[in-house]
Amino acid sequence: MNTQHAAAEAASTFTAEMRAQWDAAAAGWDEHTAELRAWLAVPTRAMLAMAGVEVGARVLDVAAGAGDQTLDAAARVGAGGSVLATDLSPRIIELARGRVARAGVANVECRVADGARLPVASATFDAAICRLGLMFFPEPLRGVREMHRALRRGGRACSMVFAGRERNPCIAILMATALEHAGLPPADADATGGLLSLGGPGRADALLREAGFEDVATVAIDAPFRLPSVDHYLAFVRRSASPVLQILGRLGEATAEAAWDDMRERLRAFDTAGAWEGPNELLLTAGRRE
Ligand SMILES: C[S@@+](CC[C@H](N)C(=O)[O-])C[C@H]1O[C@@H](n2cnc3c(N)ncnc32)[C@H](O)[C@@H]1O
Repeated sequence: MNTQHAAAEAASTFTAEMRAQWDAAAAGWDEHTAELRAWLAVPTRAMLAMAGVEVGARVLDVAAGAGDQTLDAAARVGAGGSVLATDLSPRIIELARGRVARAGVANVECRVADGARLPVASATFDAAICRLGLMFFPEPLRGVREMHRALRRGGRACSMVFAGRERNPCIAILMATALEHAGLPPADADATGGLLSLGGPGRADALLREAGFEDVATVAIDAPFRLPSVDHYLAFVRRSASPVLQILGRLGEATAEAAWDDMRERLRAFDTAGAWEGPNELLLTAGRRE
């Protein structure tokens, strides 16, 4: 097997596992939509503005999940525009369809699609967005190239990812604690598919430039998790597709519970008077198709 073939095979296995993880996590992510909305309201507005999501625009939403930001995009473009929401996970796309139907919105279509192989014609969208999705791609450059291909000339894309570990101590604590309890060595934060994998300085900018985007720029936005208690945060993590679950899933129940207890203790460093505020920073990277 040559190197290219081996890389393609590895990416395909990774994608299949990611689909299974998000199918399993779909209901949990959907159930936490209210918390997600509160947490991501400001960065989402910024992402939509940076991608040029305006009245009448045709918008491509990649890794759309249960469709929360899809509805925000649909509201911005109005009846004269449209949004195509795509996601790898059939279960989560089904939930997005339900959310769109309940909202009574007619200008949104939801389709299952790997962001690395979008079933869309070239140069047919005015704007492309990807909220907290690209870092899960085995080959994020392919995903960014697909967004570039889908955009008309002058169209804009904006991706939102987690910043690096020093700006996201909660995620770093979760991972480090899980690995310690599993007896595994510390993780390489930049490793493909990791939550913080695109958070290194200049990493997302470099991807967009390599894919052919012009006027590439990143804005960092402070988006702390403000919740009633650390237990609310852990409840959310336990219902998501966090890599922590993959690590702890291989341990016995008692060992895994000891790891969760340890995480709770460490994360209590962010207790505030009567509540909990976990620091978190997001990177919004936008570019324009020439
Ligand atoms: C953290 S969720 C974000 C969902 C949504 N954008 C939001 O912010 O609520 C990540 C999403 O990325 C999707 N995803 C992961 N890898 C993908 C890929 N290769 N192509 C398309 N979607 C992918 C998952 O199925 C999941 O729905």
